This record gives sequence, structure tokens and C-alpha cells, in this order.
Amino acid sequence: MCGIVGAVAERPVNKILVEGLKRLEYRGYDSAGVALLDGNTLNTVKAVGKVVNLENALDEAGVKGTTGIAHTRWATHGGVTKANAHPHISNSEIALVHNGIIENHASLREALKGDGYEFLSDTDTEVMVHLIHQLRQQHTTLLASVQAAVKQFDGAFGTVVFDKANDNEIIVARSGSPLVIGLGLGENFIASDQLALLPVTRTFIYLEEGDVARITRNSVEIFDVDGNAVKREVIESNITQDASGKGEYRHYMLKEIYEQPLAVRNTLEGRLNDDRVAIDAFGDSAQQIFKDVKHVQIIACGTSYHSGMVARYWLEQFAGVSCNVEIASEFRYRQSFVHENSLLVTISQSGETADTLAALRLAKQQGYMASMTICNVPGSSLVRESDLAFMTKAGAEIGVASTKAFTTQLVGLLMLTASIAQEKGLDQGTIVNAIKLLPAKLEETLLLADGIADLAEEFADKHHSLFLGRGSQYPIAMEGALKLKEISYIHAEAYAAGELKHGPLALIDADMPIIVVAPNNELLEKLKSNVEEVRARGGIIYVFADKDSHFESDDTMRVINVNHVDDVIAPVVYTLPLQLLSYYVAVIKGTDVDQPRNLAKSVTVE
Ligand code: G6P
Repeated sequence: MCGIVGAVAERPVNKILVEGLKRLEYRGYDSAGVALLDGNTLNTVKAVGKVVNLENALDEAGVKGTTGIAHTRWATHGGVTKANAHPHISNSEIALVHNGIIENHASLREALKGDGYEFLSDTDTEVMVHLIHQLRQQHTTLLASVQAAVKQFDGAFGTVVFDKANDNEIIVARSGSPLVIGLGLGENFIASDQLALLPVTRTFIYLEEGDVARITRNSVEIFDVDGNAVKREVIESNITQDASGKGEYRHYMLKEIYEQPLAVRNTLEGRLNDDRVAIDAFGDSAQQIFKDVKHVQIIACGTSYHSGMVARYWLEQFAGVSCNVEIASEFRYRQSFVHENSLLVTISQSGETADTLAALRLAKQQGYMASMTICNVPGSSLVRESDLAFMTKAGAEIGVASTKAFTTQLVGLLMLTASIAQEKGLDQGTIVNAIKLLPAKLEETLLLADGIADLAEEFADKHHSLFLGRGSQYPIAMEGALKLKEISYIHAEAYAAGELKHGPLALIDADMPIIVVAPNNELLEKLKSNVEEVRARGGIIYVFADKDSHFESDDTMRVINVNHVDDVIAPVVYTLPLQLLSYYVAVIKGTDVDQPRNLAKSVTVE
């Protein structure tokens, strides 16, 4: 989603800003812009489409600056146009970029129009810059004007502002949308994600909710929501820069699919002792909480929601606790029942998904015994605001379609299941022994890639598809369908195979491929009956099956054999062939695999 980069320096910052935006491209966006201060001259350049268009427009305009703010916009209010792209400017004096949504923009706009402000865009953001300009007439500093303005904004924002009268100052404010300050020598930076700034610094300060900061070349002053000067922790980033390179791979998504054995290995490292999980991987107070827990409420969005759905099968089967799983945007707007001794678990790659974060904040007022997050980004909002955190060690995930974050979330959830079982005196050894084999099993499964690439040819002209699974493979079918629709734009739905006859059978014909996930477990015979129901109606079936499942390829069925794995880890293993299938179909269709249309990596607005 929207990305922010800003800098205040002695040297020209054009290239730093453009490189920063490029490093945020993976988040998804549709236009980009930059405002630069060269002394007291303010120049703004914007472009619709990719950052490279902005880069070309900047070269053409021949402008530069030592202070600047830059933005990639993912349209919410107002279409994809140059006028709606950020930065927005008030009276040729104040420039501003914004991530988030200002919910009371309509009333602020009316009031500002009444006071003579002219609006050039359809965005909610433009009210911010005009209001700050108006308050600037009443306050002696830009900092005070921003502090006064933020009190009037309802909604979420991460915003960066400068006034052309002072090229040694940018003011930043965070409420609901993350911002991180990057510290340099005689220069300082701001961004919505530290990845944007890794070429210029590895020293960062995360702003907290309600913080407003004044950043100059040589200083950083931070004020909390009440205006008190505060110190925030300075951290050294351990993210490796090459995480943002594609290496030998054609797409980030393919690279990330192949990184899964390593990502799982890293997630397990140091966290298993013989046949037990090291419970402190979840946090210091985890042991007592796991002893007492009776119910787990999982909340997440998108792919992360699917990992939660798999965990429900595991937690209820192996850990003896009941479990509900809910989409965050639903949970946050309904009155839900809090069970006794209930642990709230959020799952998120980014740790910044607006709905998941809002759901956590709501749940914290509702009487859960504790909150825990399973998350891939250290220092993210969910990690900081949860009582316990299990960090997946997938490394930076750049492809919008989540792959290695999902499989490492599943590993985290298996370890959670084993840990709770352990504390309740139940068998956890079966899970732990199976998890240890996972990296090798994933490596073996990736060897199926060539066969799957061939199979993908048969999907390229299809418009609809159906994914089927049973038990803990039903959410895997859902995840497979999500992957296919995200990156190949083929309509894909997933069904629990037992539901076929309650509706979807009506859709079956030779133009609707049916993808079946079929490990060799106690549900296999039931699944085989479902497959026969499809065959009898002329459907073409693609089965990802355990070698011992005895499915045979023929005119109406293509079988891809997957090596046998213990059923407990089968959901993780069967995810990979489905990821590969989506990937190769998308490549054949020529879509933008890493940045599919209309989608964003980190959804920081609701
Ligand atoms: C976006 C991404 C998905 C992701 C979802 C939840 O929609 O495109 O890949 O699953 O957000 O994100 P989270 O960071 O909370 O896992």
C-alpha cells in the first residue's frame, strides 16, 4: 500500500528518495510523486504508474533538492491521476505526504473551502496540508501547527510535512500508520518501512502511536500524544540488504517459494530441544499462559487468516483447547463472546495490517487472558502491542502474494500447538518429530516444479477454477485458490469437498478445472468419492496426491504425486505445489506476478 520516504540532508536527495520508493514498490501502488526543496525553491514532480515514470519525469524536469518527501499512492479517495498523487501542496508553501485515511475529510474540506482554500485533488489527504497551512498562521513553528492539526484528524495517518521557508526541517506524525526515522551522519530520514532506507542507514527509531517528531540534519526531537518530549529506542536493523534483490530468479515470488526450506529452518533454529519446544520462543510469560489457556481466538486477514484456519484443526486435535478463527475486519465490528481463559492470537506477515491491529486493540479491552502475535516483522505494531510474540524468520517478503510468510506461520502455529499440548501433559513428540523433517520434505516437494509448470499450460485459457480439500487441507485449498486469483486473475473458489453437492457441482464442466489436495489420511476415501462425483459430470481434475493414494492419470484426471509425509505437516507441504501452479499460470498469462493489479502487500488502511 502507500509508501513514504523523506530526507533532510546536505547532499541532493533525489536518488535516495527514488531508490527508497523503488524498494517500497512491492507494497502495491498506482502513482508516485516527490516534493524537493532546493534552498527555498519548492518543486513537485508526479507521475501515474510505476516509480520509473516518476524517475524519468524527474530527470526531464531537471530539479533537485537537499530536503524532500516522496510517496507511492494506492488510491482510496479519488481516481489514479497526477492531481491525486502526493505530495499535496498548500499555497505553494507547505508540502505533505500521507499514508492512511482521514475519515472526517468531508467536514474539514467544507470548512477550509469556506475559509478560501482551493482544492486541486479529490483526496482525503489534501485537507491535511491546507489545515496545517491555516494553523501555521496562528502558531510560531511548523511543529506546533502539525501538533494542533493532528488533534482535528479522525482516522489513520502517517504523514510527513515541510515548509519551504526552512529546508532544514521535516515534521512527521504517526497515528495508525507506521513511520520509522532513519539516522545518518549530518542527515536524517523518514520512511514507512525501514527497507526503503537500508542503502543509507541501518540505525532506526520507530515512532509510537500519537508521536510527532521534528527532524533536522543533526537532530531528532520526538513528542508524545500529549506533547511531552520523549525518547524512543534506537535499534540497529539486522535485515540483510540482498533481501530486496531477486538474485537468479525471474520473480521475487519464485525466489520466495524456493526460500521456504531455509525460512522454515531459520524459524525452527534454537527453538526445539530434543522432542520439546523451547517455550520462551513465545515470550517470557508464555509457559504459565499455555498452562492456563482453555480457548484460542485467532484473528487475521488474507493468507494469514488461512494459516489460522489450519491451526484450528491442530489446536483442537492435539492441544485439547477450543479455537475460533475470524477475519479481523469482521471481528472488530461485532460483539463477540470471550471464553474463559481465552488467548487472543493475531497472525500477520507485516504486523501492520490495519484491521488486525484494530482488532487487537479492541480485544485488549475485552478480557482476554493475554494477547499473542505470530508475525514476521520485528518491531512492527502488532509485535509491540501484544503480550507475547512468536517471530517467524521468513526474512523480508517482497512478492505481494504471500508464500514463505504463510509456511513459516504454519510452523509457528504447529509450535504453539505442541507447546500448549506440552504444558497440558499431552503428547507433543509426534508434532515435534514431524516438524524437524519439514525443511527436507519441502526441498523434495520443490522438485515437482517442472511437472507443475507443464500442467500450468492447461490453465492459461481458463476463466474459473475450483479447489477442493478436506480437514486441515480445506484451508490449504482456500490458500491455493487465493494464490491463483491474486496473481493469474483466474476466478478461483475453494470448497470443503463434502460441500460439493450442496451447490458447486452445478458449475462443473470441461472448462472448469478442479484442483484437489489429497494426502493419504483417514479422509482419503471420502475425498475419492467426491472426486468421482466430479468425474461423473465431465469435470477435468488435477490431483496433488500422496504417492500411496492410488490415483491414476487418465483423460479426465492429471495426478501429481507428492512424497508421503506425516499428516500433521501435510498442510505445509501441500501448500508448495499450489503456489508453484499459480506462479506458472501467471507467468504463462504474462501478469505482473510480484505486484498484481489493485493489490497491496501491507494493507495499512481498513
Ligand atoms: C494483503 C496481502 C496478503 C496478506 C494480507 C494480510 O492483502 O496482499 O498477502 O495475506 O494483506 O497481511 P498480513 O501482513 O497481516 O499478513
